[in-house]
Amino acid sequence: MNKQKGRNTLRTMAGIVGLAFGVLVPFGAVQAAEKIKVGLMLPYTGTFAALGTAITNGFKQYVAEQGGNLAGREVEYFVVDDESDPAKATENANKLVKRDQVDVLVGTVHSGVALGMAKVARDNKTLMIIPNAGADDLTGPLCAPNVFRTSFTNWQPGFAMGKVAAERGHKTAVTLTWKYAAGEEAVNGFTGGFEAGGGKVLKQLTLPFPGVEFQALLTEIASLKPEAVYVFFAGGGAVKFVKDYDAAGLKASIPLYSSGFLTDGTLAAMGGSGEGLLTALHYADGLDNAKDKSFRDSYSTTYKMQPDVYAVQGYDAAQLLKAGLDAVKDGKLEQGAMIKAMAAATVDSPRGAFTLSKAHNPVQDIYLRKAEGQENKVVSIAAPKLADPARGCRM
Ligand code: BEZ
Repeated sequence: MNKQKGRNTLRTMAGIVGLAFGVLVPFGAVQAAEKIKVGLMLPYTGTFAALGTAITNGFKQYVAEQGGNLAGREVEYFVVDDESDPAKATENANKLVKRDQVDVLVGTVHSGVALGMAKVARDNKTLMIIPNAGADDLTGPLCAPNVFRTSFTNWQPGFAMGKVAAERGHKTAVTLTWKYAAGEEAVNGFTGGFEAGGGKVLKQLTLPFPGVEFQALLTEIASLKPEAVYVFFAGGGAVKFVKDYDAAGLKASIPLYSSGFLTDGTLAAMGGSGEGLLTALHYADGLDNAKDKSFRDSYSTTYKMQPDVYAVQGYDAAQLLKAGLDAVKDGKLEQGAMIKAMAAATVDSPRGAFTLSKAHNPVQDIYLRKAEGQENKVVSIAAPKLADPARGCRM
């Protein structure tokens, strides 16, 4: 963050010049804290576009609640649409880190893109906050002091859902997901929880991301006759899958379970096909806490829609950044002090307060939710204070 020295020097010189010409330069203006340059690298087009927008909205809502700044610092945004395209991840992250010289990278949604982004953050020692992508490795073997996550690992909701499916008495299951890190890790989490509870996964089916040609796979599921189906889909793909599952007549015969991304922010578009679905996630509608109530009130007033898990994760990314900035109030953006404060923070999230594990991933309750109308109503806590095992993280 040495570039900040230049900005400070400029401000000091402005003060001296002001005095020399008899212009009154308020002391506070010369001493004003350096601004913070935030690079938002998120999907604003494609199947995850709505997710990127919700994260951005949530982040900006928290900044607005703080009076338009964070810990007294002006926030300057630099925005890149990553299109959920892993092939463009390095180039896009470099635009923000090298060209725009951001102080913090905030992103992204897609696990494969986030893995590329995190490499850029590690190589350049840029602070990074992941407001969604669940790739287990980011807070596993690839964990780093400057990389934080305010969302989840793909393992966390998958494992909790597997545990619940076994507790509900199912003995066999088939899984289906897009073939990429998030889907495969969510399925592994489910399989771990389900098989630990005495279930057996008969087959793991996949299709390429972001494909939505489900018919042949649905036919195969029907012929395998499992007692339950577990899927990982999100955004536009989730809507198409749930409608197709229903239209194929499977919803009535084989219970469908998922990580909550299937039904978060998508129930309205599913037009009733999602009704009654049980999912597991670290956020739910109907949580009984004051923070969630005020968050939802102000989000719906500002954006004219209800928030979802992605908005919460974006809001919490801004909260975590503020915790770091509080540690360097009025001073230089000293990364070491920020990292220390962020690692020790308790984030007062609408999902319920959470702390971070040593690997910088939330330790959090995973809720069992039931889709009712356009809400994912909390049913119970499926896995309290669940910490990702963070295998391979040496920090
Ligand atoms: C992921 O790629 O990690 C992801 C994408 C959408 C929802 C949840 C996870």
